[in-house]
Amino acid sequence: MSQPASRLPLLQRPSWKALAAHHDEVRQLHLKDLFAGDAGRGERLTLSAGDLFLDYSKNRVTDRTLALLLRLAQEAGLEERIRAMFNGEKINATEGRAALHVALRAPAGSTVLVDGRNVVPEVQAVLERMTAFANRVRAGQWTGHTGKPIRNLVNIGIGGSDLGPVMAYEALRHYSERSLTFRFVSNLDGSDFLEATRDLHPAETLFIVSSKTFSTLETMTNANSAREWLIAGLGGDPKAVARHFVAVSTEAEKVTAFGIEAANMFGFWDWVGGRYSMDSAIGLSTMVAIGPDHFRSMLRGFHRMDEHFRTAPFAENMPVLMGLLSLWNTNFLGAETAAVLPYEQYLKRFPAYLQQLTMESNGKHVTREGRPVEYQTSPIYWGEPGTNGQHSFYQLIHQGTRLIPCDFIAFDHPLVPLGRHHDLLLANVFAQARALAFGKTAEEVEAEGTVARLVPHRVFEGNRPSNVLMADRLTPAVLGQLTALYEHLVFTQGVVWDIDSFDQWGVELGKALAMSIIPDLEGGAEPTLGYDSSTNNLIRRYRASKAR
Ligand code: F6P
Repeated sequence: MSQPASRLPLLQRPSWKALAAHHDEVRQLHLKDLFAGDAGRGERLTLSAGDLFLDYSKNRVTDRTLALLLRLAQEAGLEERIRAMFNGEKINATEGRAALHVALRAPAGSTVLVDGRNVVPEVQAVLERMTAFANRVRAGQWTGHTGKPIRNLVNIGIGGSDLGPVMAYEALRHYSERSLTFRFVSNLDGSDFLEATRDLHPAETLFIVSSKTFSTLETMTNANSAREWLIAGLGGDPKAVARHFVAVSTEAEKVTAFGIEAANMFGFWDWVGGRYSMDSAIGLSTMVAIGPDHFRSMLRGFHRMDEHFRTAPFAENMPVLMGLLSLWNTNFLGAETAAVLPYEQYLKRFPAYLQQLTMESNGKHVTREGRPVEYQTSPIYWGEPGTNGQHSFYQLIHQGTRLIPCDFIAFDHPLVPLGRHHDLLLANVFAQARALAFGKTAEEVEAEGTVARLVPHRVFEGNRPSNVLMADRLTPAVLGQLTALYEHLVFTQGVVWDIDSFDQWGVELGKALAMSIIPDLEGGAEPTLGYDSSTNNLIRRYRASKAR
């Protein structure tokens, strides 16, 4: 009996082979031809999910490509894997954990089981505690050691314990309590801490130490500096810490050992991955900034996309479709990177947030069984808000030698209308997507009267794929949907690539080496210098310079 396709290595699955053969047939097709051959393409290849609208017509795909990609998802067992994720199975096999961020936004009263236990009541209980805390701070009722109300909040965290909070704060700043100041410290470089706190008064400042493990070098170093800064600024009394520090972590003992009271700790669970945690207590700063009602609305947005992902047929399933299109671009069209281009200044940190989400999840070199993959996995994600990027790197996207698929993100309405700005902004989104797809031929350039020697320089080949993703306006609910869209897109790809999207062993080696090098840089003892000649030399040089 032949084995089910999902058991076969990816390259041997019938749909993959069919896609490879199909790619040979369509590789020369230009988007111009695809549009010319189908007058309705621009309306047909669109999709709505919740508040989001996707135009994916400017991808280099035919109906057959799409059908084969959908078959690829079927053959990968995506349906079953989605079920496994939502059922709390331990799909993060290398860490023996569930990946159940969807439980963080499950409505109160629903049931999500982990090891036979319904976790929704615990999630809701933490949300209630966060709400009480956020309301107290926002109302000026949380007073510091000297009795002054807290007016500044500094989130200390890194990776998922920073990028989610800072992205969401920036994205939803319009909805934030403007009388409070929010800062985010992540980098081990002391200047990050110094710049974030230089104009703040300790008496009015509260630190949120956000760390799932409460042992991350960067976060603990910054938290210790924050404690020193605070105590020094408040007359040297260590008791001040209690009213100026709260923690978000899964590690209660470590939190109390640091001096933060258990009552001021907000917990979460090992089934929440760092890069999937902005809607857990890690979002505490977000909740204080935008208020509990807006935070709940963001959670409803996440949940709306979860339900779409869980229930929509693949052909109408936005994360599935976007995941497969990006996979087509990566594995068949040879794209190495993907640009995310929000035409919304408030989303300026969204590309940085997506970098961790996509690349820490799917930057993997072995399958779930530990066999080397024989295909590319995650593309490199990058991006900047439009229109700034247009005056910087778009040149390469339009006329460079690499294929860079783009996700344009835009909104029908600005949060802050200002004169003609929004029409001009949106004209640029539509123009860029059109220029990338259709380009400009030598004949068209010549017809404009361009001198012959400049014609090649002014030709645009076009045929550059893009998605245009739109919503009415950027609200907390829309941000939730947008974030969940990319979470599930990553999941879809991880399933097809047969990798564990929820571990991150690749960050360990550098961390361990840094720990062994630290003693060689600090202190007076002669360094061991037991490394390679380059590392030894760099250490020697640094020590000599430091001693001068
Ligand atoms: O970069 C590795 C990592 O473990 C991320 O996955 C995580 O988001 C980040 O470090 C921070 O970890 P923690 O929240 O435990 O401090």
